Amino acid sequence: MDQRVTQLFSAAVSEEQLIFAVFSALRKKSTPYRRVTVKPVLLQNRLLYQAEYHFEKKVTHENLTAEECLRLCTELLTSVFKQANLFTAEHDYQILANKPDCARIAVQPPTKTPGCLSHDRRKEYIIADGTPCDFLIRLGVMTPQGRVHAKHYSKFRQINRFLEIVDDVLPVLLSQGAASAPLKIIDFGCGKAYLTFALYYYLKQKKGLPVQIVGLDLKEDVIAFCSQVASELHYDGLHFEMGDIADYDETARADMVVTLHACDTATDFALIKAVAWQASVILSVPCCQHELFYQIQNPLHAPLLSQGILKERMAALLTDGLRALKLQEHGYDVSMIEFTSLEHTAKNIMLRCTKVPELSSDAVDSSGASAPSARSLSRRAQQQAAKDYARLCDFWQVHPTIGQME
Ligand SMILES: C[S@@+](CC[C@H](N)C(=O)[O-])C[C@H]1O[C@@H](n2cnc3c(N)ncnc32)[C@H](O)[C@@H]1O
Repeated sequence: MDQRVTQLFSAAVSEEQLIFAVFSALRKKSTPYRRVTVKPVLLQNRLLYQAEYHFEKKVTHENLTAEECLRLCTELLTSVFKQANLFTAEHDYQILANKPDCARIAVQPPTKTPGCLSHDRRKEYIIADGTPCDFLIRLGVMTPQGRVHAKHYSKFRQINRFLEIVDDVLPVLLSQGAASAPLKIIDFGCGKAYLTFALYYYLKQKKGLPVQIVGLDLKEDVIAFCSQVASELHYDGLHFEMGDIADYDETARADMVVTLHACDTATDFALIKAVAWQASVILSVPCCQHELFYQIQNPLHAPLLSQGILKERMAALLTDGLRALKLQEHGYDVSMIEFTSLEHTAKNIMLRCTKVPELSSDAVDSSGASAPSARSLSRRAQQQAAKDYARLCDFWQVHPTIGQME
């Protein structure tokens, strides 16, 4: 297949630019279908591609991942059809591939807009596509009219997914006395702060809650940019500071700590601070878990660990598993949930942690058990987590940074 065509397909799919594709002009009359169309669909919050095979008297469908979709498009144009019309958010392409290795490609301005072909793709988001939202416009995710740019659709989905998770933990945040206004939130390693702005927008603008949010990052230019945007948008109560998570003011406190994709042990320092402050909610998506890669060893698993890729994954899973145990040991309820679809990033495990409230001495739990036994139950769970942590560290011969949590 002509490299330019392969690149076209690949860019359209990987950048989520594809709106619709139609394959026509059969190479062989014996092919049972006449035409194949491909369009993106959102199924159970997962972006897939639906191929529609048009036979004489019926139409059949198959749902494909991005990778499968790419393979199919290439296969169809190489072996089955001579023509493909590709509609993306930026251009329409007509590809004539009588000779698959040397196609003719005509480029035209776009005639279709995302979303107009498949309402399956539309989902009820907290921030809706089509409604102008000030920070998304300012950050270039939306047009001033409120239309999400196709190339930023996955960021848009990620922001909404994050807000759904925030919405889920909001009752905990508000019920644990943390609501003593204003709510204090720190986003460690905020980067360009799409999610920090989203947090402010949702809690302050939409929910009307008084908040004080700090975004912290190592990068001076990023902090200058975010501060400028916050000031332009009049997001009072949202501040950005330059600094290292590990050195952040010990005496500060926060009701909620967010740390999304802060690299390697930066996540550990964020979690250690959050626990020291007894934050009610911690949302953490770790990434680049390199620390244990250089430590992990176990005679039984040596054959597996000799494969770099397996060792890397094993080390990352162990790192996050040990973090979860440390948090449990310190009285947090930890769920590991999928943050975004694996198709978009492998960094998709979120530790959603909520502080289990201390029981007062005269409290009675829902089963009628008296408070001391409920309390000793939760103590036992904490002790068990501490034992499991120690055993795992011993088994894998590791001593992770998270172990510094006191
Ligand atoms: C991949 S970006 C993630 C940005 C944002 N949280 C998100 O998920 O969209 C990671 C950010 O963490 C910052 N970072 C990494 N280590 C840090 C540290 N020790 N202290 C403060 N920021 C850190 C980096 O500068 C970078 O901007």
